[in-house]
Amino acid sequence: MKIAVAGTGYVGLVAGVCFAEMNHDVTCVDVDEKKVEIMRQGISPIYEEGLEELIQKNNAKGTLHFTTDYQEAYRDADAIFIGVGTPEMPDGSANLGYIATVSRQIAETIEKDCLVVVKSTVPVGTNDKVEQFIKDFLVHDVKVEVASNPEFLAQGTAVHDTLHAARIIIGTESKEAEALLKEIYEPFGLPIVSVKRRSAEMIKYACNDFLALKISYMNDIANLCELVGADITDVAKGMCYDERIGSRFLNAGIGFGGSCFPKDTKALKFLAKEHGYQLKTVEACVEVNTAQKIRLFEKAKERMISFNGLKVAVLGLTFKAGTDDLREAPSIDNIRLLLQAGADIYAYDPKGVERAKQLFPEGKLEKGSMTYVDSAEEALDKANICFVFTEWPQIKQITPAQFKEKMHTPLVYDGRNLYDPKQMKAAGVEYYSIGR
Ligand code: UDX
Repeated sequence: MKIAVAGTGYVGLVAGVCFAEMNHDVTCVDVDEKKVEIMRQGISPIYEEGLEELIQKNNAKGTLHFTTDYQEAYRDADAIFIGVGTPEMPDGSANLGYIATVSRQIAETIEKDCLVVVKSTVPVGTNDKVEQFIKDFLVHDVKVEVASNPEFLAQGTAVHDTLHAARIIIGTESKEAEALLKEIYEPFGLPIVSVKRRSAEMIKYACNDFLALKISYMNDIANLCELVGADITDVAKGMCYDERIGSRFLNAGIGFGGSCFPKDTKALKFLAKEHGYQLKTVEACVEVNTAQKIRLFEKAKERMISFNGLKVAVLGLTFKAGTDDLREAPSIDNIRLLLQAGADIYAYDPKGVERAKQLFPEGKLEKGSMTYVDSAEEALDKANICFVFTEWPQIKQITPAQFKEKMHTPLVYDGRNLYDPKQMKAAGVEYYSIGR
């Protein structure tokens, strides 16, 4: 099957590479020439376990190609997958600008019947509009259909999530489109759930927002645990035996970040509002998360007279471990507040430093300063206070004794509940975590 993929972000690139792995003939299109060149050389533009190996393998096998020339890729493709971004607009709605650009290019280029598959997360009803838009601009006399095929991969495990997905959702409006998508996915050997297009679009939001709700719920309960003397880790342990609840996404912490949950909760809230409906559960989830992200800073602010001139160790910058992505990471909100309060921050992250430097360049910033270091030990050295924002193994393995020895004042605010409060106390560390 000849497949073109528009956009080589997390969604597009991983999908393209995995289709190539299944021996489809894949061409990935991106506007960024530099990025295309490095991918041709077998280098992955994002850090994702196993991805670079698969790019190299399939480049060599001849099933994977990269180009900036969309015409070459789209002209005679059997299917074109759209995996471009749908970033958040200031009002919380999804920006469909990139989808529109690609749709127009497809319409003006395709010379044979083709299935256009939207993988990007888009508001319910968008695929109808994409289909109409493409038909409006078609240049050649060809048959084109649009299908929805939402993506459920999580960053850090993207390749695994794609090759071993729990299910493939396909949303189509015709038997032909359904058959073609089933044929494309047949080599993956995964369960396929086939529904109508609008339901497929909704499944994606419903899943993401449900998981986000689960996290906000646990954070809410954690905050209450602190007030009533319960321990959220024990509470989660007790909850997860109930199969109706499940054992995953029960970790209370510093709030969710990333490229999906923050955007998709706001987008669904916006969609509901547009249709005259108030989605109260999702609204509450967003509200809890916004407060949760800066909860530890607020707590520390109550304890300190000032942050001015203090050496603050920041351990972890990315929105979760296993990725170099900082989008909507709780670290960003906290660093901003700390710099405004005059803190001298020494930050460590195994993968996120390059991206963090784009947001917070090294040197004097606001009333404080930013320094990046190569190890957690360096960050902790003579620090007055430490904030933990990401659950990297390199950070989790720090012992209570190390905090005590390295820091000027052993004062730790842990947004990921990585350490045992009893052991921290026994080592002489003043320790605050979430819900314990
Ligand atoms: C998520 C969905 O999991 C994925 O299915 C979808 O396609 C895209 O959005 P991702 O954003 O990569 O994936 O990461 P995920 O592992 O879901 O974590 C999202 C955020 O929630 C992170 O900030 C993480 O730290 C936080 N989280 C997750 C918690 O705070 N507690 C948990 O128990 C789980």
